[in-house]
Amino acid sequence: MDNKLIDKLNSLLKQVSLIKILEEKYKVLHRGGSKYTVQCPFHKDGNESHPSMSVDDDKGLYQCFTCGAKGNVITYLKEKENLSFKDAINNLGKRFSIDVSDFFSAEGNKKAQIFDEAKNINKLASIFFSSALLSKDKNNNYKYDYATKYLKKRKIPISIVKEFKLGLAPPIWDSLFKSISKSYKNVSYQNLLALGLVRESRNKDGRYFDNFINRIIFPIINHRGEIIGFGGRSVDGSEPKYLNSKESIVFKKKSVLYGINVTKNHIMQADSVILTEGYMDVIGSYKSGVCNVLATLGTAITEFQMKEIKKYTKNIVLSLDNDDAGIRATRMAILHALKEDLNISVIDGINVKDLDEYFTLHTKEEFDIVYSDKLNWYDWIIKKELNGEILNDLVPKRRLDIADIFHNFLNAIESDTQKDILIRYISEKLSIAYEAFKNDYKRKFESSRSNNIQTNRSKQSNIESKKNDNNRLKYENSLIYLLTLNPSIISIAEKAIDPELIEKDLAREYYLRLLTLPIDASVEDALNILGSEKVSEQILLKRKFYEGDIKEKLNSLIIKIKDYDIYKKRIELKQEKINIPMETSEGFEALCIRAREIDSLKKEREKLYEGNNI
Ligand code: UTP
Ligand code: MN
Repeated sequence: MDNKLIDKLNSLLKQVSLIKILEEKYKVLHRGGSKYTVQCPFHKDGNESHPSMSVDDDKGLYQCFTCGAKGNVITYLKEKENLSFKDAINNLGKRFSIDVSDFFSAEGNKKAQIFDEAKNINKLASIFFSSALLSKDKNNNYKYDYATKYLKKRKIPISIVKEFKLGLAPPIWDSLFKSISKSYKNVSYQNLLALGLVRESRNKDGRYFDNFINRIIFPIINHRGEIIGFGGRSVDGSEPKYLNSKESIVFKKKSVLYGINVTKNHIMQADSVILTEGYMDVIGSYKSGVCNVLATLGTAITEFQMKEIKKYTKNIVLSLDNDDAGIRATRMAILHALKEDLNISVIDGINVKDLDEYFTLHTKEEFDIVYSDKLNWYDWIIKKELNGEILNDLVPKRRLDIADIFHNFLNAIESDTQKDILIRYISEKLSIAYEAFKNDYKRKFESSRSNNIQTNRSKQSNIESKKNDNNRLKYENSLIYLLTLNPSIISIAEKAIDPELIEKDLAREYYLRLLTLPIDASVEDALNILGSEKVSEQILLKRKFYEGDIKEKLNSLIIKIKDYDIYKKRIELKQEKINIPMETSEGFEALCIRAREIDSLKKEREKLYEGNNI
C-alpha cells in the first residue's frame, strides 16, 4: 500500500479548513474553540432557518442532527459539490493554495483513468455531434438542413438545442470515428467499442464504423454534468426510433434520469418532479416553462430511479404516455414510489399522446390548470378501474374487484397508520365495510407471503423471512467492517455488489463512502471517511475477526448478500403473481412474464453457487 499518499492526504486535511469552505455559502455560528454550528447544506437545499449542523474544524468533521448527514471535507465536496475524490483533492489544493500536483501516484487509479477516458470520449463525441448539427456550408446555409428543419418542425428553438446539447450524427459511415481518432491520438478503440459509439466491421479487418448514423443526438448527462451516454432519434423513418448507448461503466440504464443536469435545481426549488417517459417530453415541457421534469427513457421505471429522485424531492407527479403501456407503467411507478415512501400523484387531463405533444398545442397556463387537477394515486387507480362507470351504479362484485386491486398497493406501504388511513378512505369511497376490507387484505397478504394457503405454513415462512432479514443486516455490517479494515479489497466488492443491494440505509451510506476511496487507501482513510469516531472504535475492536483470508471472507459475503437479494426478488415476484388478475389477456401475459422472471432468478441463484457469477 502506498503510504505516501496517506501521508499526503493527512497533511492536506490538516492544512484545509472545512469551515472556510462552508461559510462561503452557509450561515456559520461560532460556538467556541474549533466548534461551530452551521446551516446544513444537505437538507432544505441549505436554506434552513435554524442551523443544525455541528462542525469541529480541528477534526475537520461535520454532523447534522436533523438530516443525519456526516462526514469530512472530502465527503462534503463529493456529495454537495458533486466532485470525484480526485477532483475534490484538486479543488482543495486550489482553494488553499496547496501543491497537490504529485498527489496521485504514476500508476494511479486505473479505474478512475478508464472512467475519465470514457467521459472524455463521450464529451468529444458530443462536441462532434453538436458542431455537425450546426455546421454551415459556404453559402451560410445549414449543411444538414433536413436536421435543423426537423427540429424546427418539432418546435425546438436553438436555445434549447444548446442547453440540452442536442446534435446530429451525420449520414456518413465513420465520421465520428475519424474525427475522434484525429483529435485524440491515443484513444483506446476498446473504450470506443465499450461505449457503443463504434462497432467493428463484420469481417474483423480492423475497420470501425459509427454506431449512430443519421440521427438527432440527445446526450444523456448525469447530475454532475458528465455525459454518460447518447440517445439517437432516427429522422428518416429507420428503426429503431430511438437508439440508445449500450450498458457500460458509465451508462447504467436502470438509473438514468434524462434531464437531471438541466432540471435538478428547478426540481429542488419546486420540491416536486414531473416524471415523463421520453427525451422529447422533457424538452417539450422545459421549453414551455415547466422546468421540474425528468424522463426515465422508456416505460420500465425502476426502484433505483425512485431512490435517485428521492435525493432531490419526495413529491413525484407522474405524466407518462397516454396509452396502455403508459398506464401499466404508471401502476408500476406507484408501487415503487410507495415502497420508497414517496408522495405520488398522477396528471390525468392530458388528452393527447404525451406531454411533448400537449405542449405543441397548449400553453403553460393551460397546463397549470391540468396540473392542479392532478389525482392522488389512489383516486387515479379508482378512476382507471371505473373506466367511465359511476361508482354508485356498480354491482357489488365490481366493487370487490376494485378493492382487491388495492391489496397490492397497500402491501407496498410500510407505515401501518398510513395503511389504515387508506383502508378507511378506500372502503368509504367504494361503500364497503371497513372491517371486511381490512380483514380481506390481511388474509390475502399473509397467504401470499408464503405462497401457501395453510396458515401455519404461512407463519413459518414469516418467521423464516424475519430470520433472513436479521442475517442480512449482519452480513451488511460484516461487509462494512471487512472493507474498512482491508481497503485493498474494496475494488473487488465494488465490482460484485451494487450499492442498491445493501438494504440498510446506514450500511449503504458507509459502503458508498468506502467506494470513494482511492485504490491505495489505508485503514485510517477508511475509518476517516466513515466520519464517526464511535463506529471507528467499534470496527477496530473487531479487528481480529477480519484478518486472514480476507478474499475468501469477502466472497462468502458477496454470495450471501446476492443470494438474499435473489430470494427477496423471488418472494416479491410470487406475491405479484398472485395479485395479477388472470381473467384478462393482459393479466395473463403479465403472469407469463413474471413466471419467466422467477425462472431466470432461479438460474441466477444456481450460477451464484457454481461461483461463475463473481
Ligand atoms: P415513445 O415511443 O413514446 O417516443 O418512447 P417519444 O418520446 O414520443 O418520441 P417522439 O416524440 O416520437 O420523438 C418514449 C421513450 O422510450 C424510449 C425513448 O427514451 C423515448 O423517448 N424509446 C422509444 C427507446 O429507447 N427506443 C425506441 O425505439 C423507442
Ligand atoms: Mn412524443
